[in-house]
Amino acid sequence: MILYKNDIAKLKEIISSHTKTFLLLDENSEKYCLQYFNTIDLLKSNTIKIVIPAGEQHKNIETVQYIWSQLVENHADRKSLLINIGGGMVTDIGGFAASCYQRGIDFINIPTTLLGMIDAAVGGKTGVDFQGLKNQIGVFSQPLAVVILFEFLETLPKRELLSGLAEIIKYGFIVDKTFLEAKLTYPIYPEYIEKAIEAKDEITLSDTTEQGRRKILNFGHTVGHAIETYLIDNHQEMRHGEGVALGMVSALYLSEKYCNLDHKITLYYKDIYAKNFNRFDLNDISVGELLEIMRHDKKNQDGDIRFVLISDLEKPVYDVVVNPEDIVDSINYIVDYLRDENYWGK
Ligand SMILES: NC(=O)c1ccc[n+]([C@@H]2O[C@H](COP(=O)([O-])OP(=O)(O)OC[C@H]3O[C@@H](n4cnc5c(N)ncnc54)[C@H](O)[C@@H]3O)[C@@H](O)[C@H]2O)c1
Repeated sequence: MILYKNDIAKLKEIISSHTKTFLLLDENSEKYCLQYFNTIDLLKSNTIKIVIPAGEQHKNIETVQYIWSQLVENHADRKSLLINIGGGMVTDIGGFAASCYQRGIDFINIPTTLLGMIDAAVGGKTGVDFQGLKNQIGVFSQPLAVVILFEFLETLPKRELLSGLAEIIKYGFIVDKTFLEAKLTYPIYPEYIEKAIEAKDEITLSDTTEQGRRKILNFGHTVGHAIETYLIDNHQEMRHGEGVALGMVSALYLSEKYCNLDHKITLYYKDIYAKNFNRFDLNDISVGELLEIMRHDKKNQDGDIRFVLISDLEKPVYDVVVNPEDIVDSINYIVDYLRDENYWGK
């Protein structure tokens, strides 16, 4: 159930049907977003706050243990409610902690980043990173509701907004080409965001455990995740959506080779990328290590590396087995693109 600001009464109703309410926040959502709930008089006085450190490096089992220990110490029972207020890191870890606590308590996601709103908080994937692998441990578990409050985007740094924009643009390839026209505007106009949330909600409800159609949401993610993981492991900054934005360059290159995609679409996207996203320096990246990371991708079967590609705009194809040599070529294609002064004009 997706709720917007006009539906706050419904949210109050859900909260009051539970014995105790716990709020999970990270340092930033506590600082920038918590006060909003006082202004709308939403929370009961006995609400208990659990604050975790911000950042992907804390999306791990140790942080889950801390959340569970706070729930135990504060006598959370099976009718308690956990409200996750934050970006995808908080909603992923909070959903997982709630789903395992006493075999599962209710949780609500209130995403406070653009990426959280249009992607991470919706669809019921929860989990943590483990042994250097992203989202390696987790469960599918649906939140009781996802509450979208656009005001939280006002304090979000531009780079975080861009990370969300990448996932919005992704919908342009797989469901509706008008998403390719999405741009960052200030103040943020909600039209594309609402449409993206609807698309994610519809696709994930049609295939809750990713047996088929839902896989199309992973367009750009195979190489994107690997680059993101590699850079973070090597102490460099990369946001989730930034990885996906680059991963889509590789997915388009491979779509030409495996699905006869028109090269014009790749060129069109390279322009979109250069206008919106950062020029990363990937000259020293180890392609071998990227392949190794991809081999652990949860979308694989029988040791094959599987991709979501497109044969045209709005025509995704999933489970395409791609040869390692072609994957290497597609990564080199990204590296060359990032070097190409024609796109980055000096
Ligand atoms: N479950 C899914 O289906 C799914 C889908 C996509 C991504 N994800 C996961 O989501 C995570 C990425 O999410 P994200 O990009 O939201 O990152 P994030 O949760 O790390 O948030 C990014 C940064 O913004 C800060 N922040 C949050 N709200 C703020 C606000 N309103 N104002 C100022 N700062 C704020 C956070 O503290 C953090 O420093 C990754 O762990 C990824 O694996 C999950």
